[in-house]
Amino acid sequence: MSMLEVKNITKSFGKVEVLKDVSFSLEQGQVMSILGSSGSGKTTLLRCINFLEDADGGQILVDGECIFDGSAEKKLTAKEIRANQLHFGLVFQSFNLFPQYTALENVTLAPKLLAKERPDYKEKKKEIHAEIEENAKALLARVGLSDRMNNYPCQLSGGQQQRVSIARALALNPKVLFFDEPTSALDPELTGEILKVIRDLAQKDVTMVIVTHEIEFARGVSDRIVFMADGVVVEDGTPEEVLDKSKNAKTRAFLQKLNEN
Ligand SMILES: Nc1ncnc2c1ncn2[C@@H]1O[C@H](COP(=O)(O)OP(=O)(O)OP(=O)(O)O)[C@@H](O)[C@H]1O
Ligand SMILES: [Mg+2]
Repeated sequence: MSMLEVKNITKSFGKVEVLKDVSFSLEQGQVMSILGSSGSGKTTLLRCINFLEDADGGQILVDGECIFDGSAEKKLTAKEIRANQLHFGLVFQSFNLFPQYTALENVTLAPKLLAKERPDYKEKKKEIHAEIEENAKALLARVGLSDRMNNYPCQLSGGQQQRVSIARALALNPKVLFFDEPTSALDPELTGEILKVIRDLAQKDVTMVIVTHEIEFARGVSDRIVFMADGVVVEDGTPEEVLDKSKNAKTRAFLQKLNEN
């Protein structure tokens, strides 16, 4: 059974059909990269899957369980949406850390809020918080930030901030981790440290979907590459099939343009 199944997702903004019919599925531990030119709907797709945008139609299944059905008559409640969002982690291009909190606090914030819903929270608050902090410290160590845990975002480089946001996304133990151009807001010399963290996660079998323009990185880290154009998936295959052997005119034009830059 697939870990994530996205079926026939559609989304329009006003009269503009941004996602016309997007489908793909992902197995546990697989890494899939999404390529496509600017405006092809990549961010919109991630936002729809993560319930930051309300898709117009289609279905989303996690581990076989349908968590979104565009044809359902009843809209999901805010509570249901929050529960669904817990399946996923999302790392944005622009880090989106809370500036008033330290690196460690940024990572512990969501797990601490969530822990309040546990029936044993009141009696075990201290232990629960200690456990959350220990886990957050381990995650920050994993992304190479043991010595920066008490720094505020403004005291961290862009690459360090992005590593905090990866640790934050991992803190809720998501089934699938999504990245939306995780390196595009960084200076070129900081790109490598983020790509290394993502490569390490891939080796540890974290299931990931990565929107990126870093073709050689995508080739190295991905089991599959999806190419999107005009709101549909034009190609879905191994890196070799899509990057080297594509017969599709749109894919080839896109790759050629990247090569020229
Ligand atoms: N909230 C919105 N309201 C109206 N139009 C939107 C909204 N969000 C996105 N769009 C439009 O949807 C289309 C797809 O945008 P999207 O950001 O998903 O593209 P993208 O593939 O992520 O591009 P990029 O590579 O530049 O990040 C664009 O034409 C954009 O203008
Ligand atoms: Mg985008």
